[in-house]
Amino acid sequence: VFKDHCAIVVFGASGDLAKKKTFPALFGLYLHDELPKNIKIFGYARTSIPLDDFKSRIASFIKYKKSPISEQVFSEKKEKFLTLIDYLSGPYDKNTGFKELESKLLEFDSSLLKNSPSGTYNTNDSNKFFSQRLYYLALPPSAFVDVARNLKENNYPEKGTGFAKIIVEKPFGHDLPSARELQSKLAPLWSEDELYRIDHYLGKEMVKNLLVLRFGNEFFGASWSRKHISSIQISFKEPFGTEGRGGYFDKIGIIRDVIQNHLLQVLTLLTIDRPISFDPEAIRDEKVKLLKSISPIDLNDILIAQYDKSLDGTKPSYLDDKTVDPNSKCVTYAAIPINIENERWDGVPIILRAGKALNDGKVEIRIQFKQVARGVFKNIDRNELVIKIQPKEVIYLKINAKLPGLATSTTLTDLDLSYDSRYESFWIPEAYESLIRDCLHDDHSNFVRDDELEVSWKLFTPLLNYLEGPDGPAPVKYPYGARSPPGLDKFLNEHNYKFTNNETYQWPVIRPENL
Ligand code: BG6
Repeated sequence: VFKDHCAIVVFGASGDLAKKKTFPALFGLYLHDELPKNIKIFGYARTSIPLDDFKSRIASFIKYKKSPISEQVFSEKKEKFLTLIDYLSGPYDKNTGFKELESKLLEFDSSLLKNSPSGTYNTNDSNKFFSQRLYYLALPPSAFVDVARNLKENNYPEKGTGFAKIIVEKPFGHDLPSARELQSKLAPLWSEDELYRIDHYLGKEMVKNLLVLRFGNEFFGASWSRKHISSIQISFKEPFGTEGRGGYFDKIGIIRDVIQNHLLQVLTLLTIDRPISFDPEAIRDEKVKLLKSISPIDLNDILIAQYDKSLDGTKPSYLDDKTVDPNSKCVTYAAIPINIENERWDGVPIILRAGKALNDGKVEIRIQFKQVARGVFKNIDRNELVIKIQPKEVIYLKINAKLPGLATSTTLTDLDLSYDSRYESFWIPEAYESLIRDCLHDDHSNFVRDDELEVSWKLFTPLLNYLEGPDGPAPVKYPYGARSPPGLDKFLNEHNYKFTNNETYQWPVIRPENL
């Protein structure tokens, strides 16, 4: 565990991910005293940027948000944080920059050694410093292996004199063969123990809550199976298109972008059996077991779509993007049923659905329970547990209850845990904050293991090959800003999801005037 000191190097430091996510997350941890006491943060990228410009760029992405910490403390800490940052530029594929980096890292080590009581940072056998380093690769995949190799060759503390960890960001391959190839190149350099594959969805507060919710509540635990659940949906909606990222997205599509990784990860936590402990390997063993029980995706049972111009003509279609192939069949919306063929889940449709350029931005899980025996209840709604991952964390359970008053009529209402009101003054860490901290604490639970990756690509590669092959179907079109592509409601109905009968019900309020 990196408690006292650590050097952090962010590669791809001039890129989007680093400035929007990595650096703000490092600051968030610093703000909450969650970084080691003595720290130095290096940005590394190919472009040469004066240090002050780099710092102001980082500073512009660190903004005060309402939190238990006052604005004044925030500003003071921000100033201090910026003083911890250094920047250097160099190539990724040659060792020159890495040698320079090494001398900067050694300089940091010796400054600590000089300023601390003797013995604090020493290794057992000598006066050598015990170096602790975290390398964060916010890089395109083409640079992964070069950087991983150069770091191993130039910036890897000798055995007994320190420790290094490396965080890598998706994409981990493009399909099964390329993922295997990448893994075969990384594995000889960095052991699975030293390697942290980020799927940032695993760091989201509500996703981290799933195992507690399921295994810490008899009520949920007891009903969590095909016996009581009729369908599950994990859905991701974004209100913007590929603006500016068309060229990149065209080769990726929504399935690789969010379904094969983020939504599938959420699915595993939602459906695994109880691990023997919350130990990282115990959790990841269960995830792999679960992934292996998923049957091949039925290529005739999917809904795929691509966005068109908005109805009012103000928003462009996907194909209007000049960086995109004008005949592209790239999928910007997909709904994919998953069947887990194990004792607990076989026969329960689980729909993973994700889309860009829709009417809303949200990620949520819907677990719909079976119909109660009718008899006295002619047309009663089903229970549904909704777990909202973002933009706000909420869990609510739709239940039927008697409508207040003299008459006995039932109404659909809910048990509602909204974090906003329940945990008003809490710090809800951003996904990246939570994951970088896990890494500093050697906790691999919320990172993707090599075998998980292998099984997830095995599952999606045939579907991707089909969609991108010569017989790939043309996606249906939906207007930019639509609630969903045409046919989604019917598709969900066919997969056991029943929309509520009660049209007056709407989370979070029921208005008497609507009854
Ligand atoms: C990324 C995708 O992995 O996740 C993006 O590449 C997507 O296309 C993003 O917008 C969504 O993350 P979040 O945390 O904003 O839901």
